[in-house]
Amino acid sequence: MKILGIETSCDDTASAVVNDKGEVLSNVLSSQEQFHKDFGGIVPEIASRKHAELIGYVIKDALKLSHSEMKDIDAVSVTYGPGLVGSLLVGVEAAKAISFSLDIPLIGINHLEGHIYALFLKGSPLHYVKNPFPLLILIVSGGHTELILMKEHLTYKLLGKTRDDAAGEALDKFARALGYSYPGGPVIEKLGKDGDPNFYHFPRANFPGTAYEFSFSGLKTAGVYYIEKHRDELKSHLNDIAASFEEAVADMLVEKTIRAARDFSVKGIGIVGGVSANKRLRKKFLKKSKTEVYFPGNGFSTDNAAMVAMAGLMRYKKGQRDNLLLDAVSRLELY
Ligand code: KG4
Ligand code: ZN
Repeated sequence: MKILGIETSCDDTASAVVNDKGEVLSNVLSSQEQFHKDFGGIVPEIASRKHAELIGYVIKDALKLSHSEMKDIDAVSVTYGPGLVGSLLVGVEAAKAISFSLDIPLIGINHLEGHIYALFLKGSPLHYVKNPFPLLILIVSGGHTELILMKEHLTYKLLGKTRDDAAGEALDKFARALGYSYPGGPVIEKLGKDGDPNFYHFPRANFPGTAYEFSFSGLKTAGVYYIEKHRDELKSHLNDIAASFEEAVADMLVEKTIRAARDFSVKGIGIVGGVSANKRLRKKFLKKSKTEVYFPGNGFSTDNAAMVAMAGLMRYKKGQRDNLLLDAVSRLELY
């Protein structure tokens, strides 16, 4: 069996083919970074127009690289939320057209579930673990920072989330204040690689009594404020200040997540979403956690369509079938 995945929730146009063993046969992504970089963030109108322009080519490439033709595809899964509605609609409508014309099942996927199922693709560690449950999931991306408990496949209990900004948002805004374009996380990682993480102590939010909630807006403001105040001498310690900011983000994520892992006696912790690509964060988790820690395989942390195909495969096996009324939903919960 081959399943085609489509992902257009934000600024990446992506399509992939995954087989029923969870093997990635192709994983194609066209980044729109260059079209948004002069605007200091993603421009929704540009994003949806570019998706519409690119989606056909991206799907064609995904088929070609997997040595498949349209007729070889047995099901199509697509992200239908959360995300930018105009962007989501392009993927959803493309998936519907494929489902209708080939008369194959259509499966709508929550983007966050896609991120979680990146952990189960061949090439990711949970592919090889028979029963990882109960499993704690930390989703940490540009729009989300939340802790989720999974007692079995495809079931989720929210333990806590950010009260304000996502961790990725704090990194993006900090990088923007330094003059870099979106996405800021990889830039901060590069700058901070050889920096001193103890150069400056940024504030770490902590709320007593609300064990699993996060907050990154204070850190974001402190970061931007620091840059404004020290703009003249920043060049001399850019690496150290990037490392210090990254360290604060990592500290907050690790502390809360490990506490939840202990409280719920989970077998393992899965960390997913764009920020889970961060090496400083990965190292800290591996150092501090007594519980097994799992990260998506190479290239599966940030948005991609293989994860959407994998989640689609799981839902297909469970019997989920959507129809041509499937709609894009900007604010979509997982629970
Ligand atoms: O999951 P993702 O690709 O898109 C969303 O669903 O939001 O995550 C994007 C976020 C951005 O905030 C980006 O700056 C961050 O993930 N990110 C990183 C790294 N790569 C992407 N943050 C830290 N280190 C990285 N290597
Ligand atoms: Zn994402």
